[in-house]
Parts: sequence; C-alpha cells; structure tokens
Amino acid sequence: MQTHVAGSQEASFDSTSANQATTQRSSTSIRQTSFAGIISECSSMQKVFSVVEKVARTDTTVLVLGESGTGKELIARAVHKLSGRTGKLVPVNCGAIPEEILESELFGHEKGSFTGAINSKIGRFQLADNGTIFLDEIGEMSPKLQVKLLRVLQERKVEPVGSTRTIDINVRVIAATNKDLKEEVKAGRFREDLFYRLQVVPIELPALRARGNDIEILVEHFMARACGNLSKPVVEFSPEAMKTMQSYPWPGNVRELENLIERLAILADTDRLLPQDLPDYLRGQQNACEIIELGEDLPSQGVDFNDLVEKFETRLISMALSKTNWNKKAAARLLHLNRTTLVEKIKKKGLAEKIEVTVEDDRDDAAPAMMSGLFRLNE
Ligand SMILES: Nc1ncnc2c1ncn2[C@@H]1O[C@H](COP(=O)(O)OP(=O)(O)OP(=O)(O)O)[C@@H](O)[C@H]1O
Ligand SMILES: [Mg+2]
Repeated sequence: MQTHVAGSQEASFDSTSANQATTQRSSTSIRQTSFAGIISECSSMQKVFSVVEKVARTDTTVLVLGESGTGKELIARAVHKLSGRTGKLVPVNCGAIPEEILESELFGHEKGSFTGAINSKIGRFQLADNGTIFLDEIGEMSPKLQVKLLRVLQERKVEPVGSTRTIDINVRVIAATNKDLKEEVKAGRFREDLFYRLQVVPIELPALRARGNDIEILVEHFMARACGNLSKPVVEFSPEAMKTMQSYPWPGNVRELENLIERLAILADTDRLLPQDLPDYLRGQQNACEIIELGEDLPSQGVDFNDLVEKFETRLISMALSKTNWNKKAAARLLHLNRTTLVEKIKKKGLAEKIEVTVEDDRDDAAPAMMSGLFRLNE
C-alpha cells in the first residue's frame, strides 16, 4: 500500500518526539501518513486524503461524516490548511449553543436587537471572511436556522439579527456530523435542500475498527507522544497486548484510543505492557472473540460438537456486535437474525456483562460489512 501524505508538507506540524518516532518507522517496514496530525495507512483513509487534496483548493462546500472521534475536525482543519485561503478557520459547534444564541453567533446582531444586546456583534461567518467556517454537529441545527443557513449558502450574504443590511462574505463552508443526515431528512428533522447544498463533496470517515493496521500505528504514535510529554522512556506493547488492542471495537474511535494511551502512559510501571496491564473491558472483548481453530480433519479423539458450535456462535455474534458498535439491530441484520433472537442469545451467553461499552441499543446506523475468515483452518 502506498503511504500517502496529504499535501507536500509531510509532518510539517509535528516536531515532537512522537514525530521522530514516526519518521524512523517510515524508513522501516511500517510507513505512515502524518499531516496535520492525521495518521493513517489504511486504503480508505488514503482515499479520504486524496479527496481532501482535490477539494481543498476549490470553494466547494464539504460535508464530513463519521462516528464520534473519527477525526472529522482534523479533516476540516486539513482542508482549510491546504486551501490557501488567507482568512481564519472559525469553528462553531451547532450542537452546543442554544438556538437564539447560535443565530447571533453565526450571523451577528445589531445593538438593541434583543434584550441584552447592549452592543452590536460580528457573527462568525463574518469572522471567517476569506477563510473557512466549520459548522460542527450540523445535524443538531434547528429548522429555523437551517432556513437561514440555506439562504446564506445560496446568496453568500449574511444579515445580522435585528438588521436590514446584508453583508457580502467570501467563506468556505465545511460541515460535520456523526448523524445519518439522510435519515434525518427522511424523518423530517433536516431540510433536504440544505442537505444537498452541504454535501456537494461528502467525505466519509471510516470507524477506527475498520482501518486495519491503523490501530497499531496510532497506539505507537500516541504512546511515543504521551511518553515524550512525560519525559519517560516509551512504553511498548507485547504482541499479545497489541492483539488485545486490535480486537477491541473502539466505539469512541481515535479519541478513545488516544485517551486510553495517555492513561496507560501515566500509570505504566513497566516499559512493556502485557494483556493483564490493559483494562478488563478490552480483554473481555478478546475472550468473547476467541478464535476457533479446526484442522482439516477431525482429531481422533473427536470434538465436543455442542461446545464448538456454541463457541462459533459466540464468535459470530461478537464480530457482528463489534462491527456495528454494539448496535443490536444492525448486528441482527448482519447475521440475518431477528433482533429478539440476537438479544436472547447475548443474554444467554452473558456477552453484555463481558463487554463494557456504551450501547445505544436502538440506533440503526451501522453500515453492514462483509465478514470473512470466520474459521481459521490449520493444517
Ligand atoms: N488519524 C488520526 N491520527 C491522529 N490523531 C487523530 C486521528 N484521528 C483523530 N485523532 C485525534 O482524535 C481526537 C478526535 O478527533 P476529532 O476531534 O477530529 O474527531 P471528531 O470526529 O471531530 O469527533 P466528534 O464527533 O466527537 O466531534 C483528536 O484529539 C484528534 O487529534
Ligand atoms: Mg468534532
């Protein structure tokens, strides 16, 4: 696989010891991408970088999609960085600001336009003039503001609250969400016309668990950085410990991994971590995914049919749950089971107690994926 560096400024932001580790590794067997802090070797992220490169120099609106912690903000920053736009990148978290305040935050307001508006205020669209506005958690925006935003996107003008004047703006818009906006449109919560305006170029970030070897390179990158910050020697992972890290589904994606590594770096008493040094919930996952190995022929002493079938069933269920971030509805669909059957099996097998991850039970948003290699056949 080709190592990809978004833009020509390889590792231009990083001068930390973590990055030195990165550079050394890239001359050995493992190569990695590092730009604006985005590290990845997997092919789906390489495609993302190539889209970022193509779209950055245009004025096109970009919609970044992906589960929480997959790096949506990093991608937005990379697009802005590569755009060559002279203005600032101005982020706005549309989910964290109440509607009335968000309106004046985005578009500004005139003095006296509402109680408490003692001075006029410049909105973030204006602050982002000649730069980029990053509308994070766009799926949370109220219908009223969706209408106003659509008009701004169409006319490239803003009208501050309480004002009749309009201000021309030259702003690149990047929006992000971890919601399925198509579903939101279907449910009538998100305007269809705004959706199409925003997703001129959609960029979909894969979940960490679908990024192959990235878990390993991110573990090493974050560990080198965390230990560098703590001025302590880099803590390594034994191969078994690394396998445990790789078997965990990482529902919080890169952010969850980054935080865990920071904690491990602080708490580690040794310079080499073994599986038992990792939190129980990570190891629980691996036990649940125990690999069933079969020879080409049955051993002469025979096999315990019921036990093997049981284990195989447990493994299939664990894989489906991992792949769907513990979304039971989606996992049931992957296994062509109905949801109640799956839930009963999970209970019976005690899987829920083994894996302590946040379960949003009725979400129906996980993409089905092909499963392969369910049995490993040995000679
Ligand atoms: N590929 C990556 N390489 C290095 N660090 C990464 C990568 N992806 C994400 N991170 C780090 O993980 C954390 C989460 O990333 P970011 O905030 O961009 O995710 P997000 O998708 O915006 O999350 P949320 O949906 O929760 O807002 C950040 O600290 C970021 O630096
Ligand atoms: Mg974010």
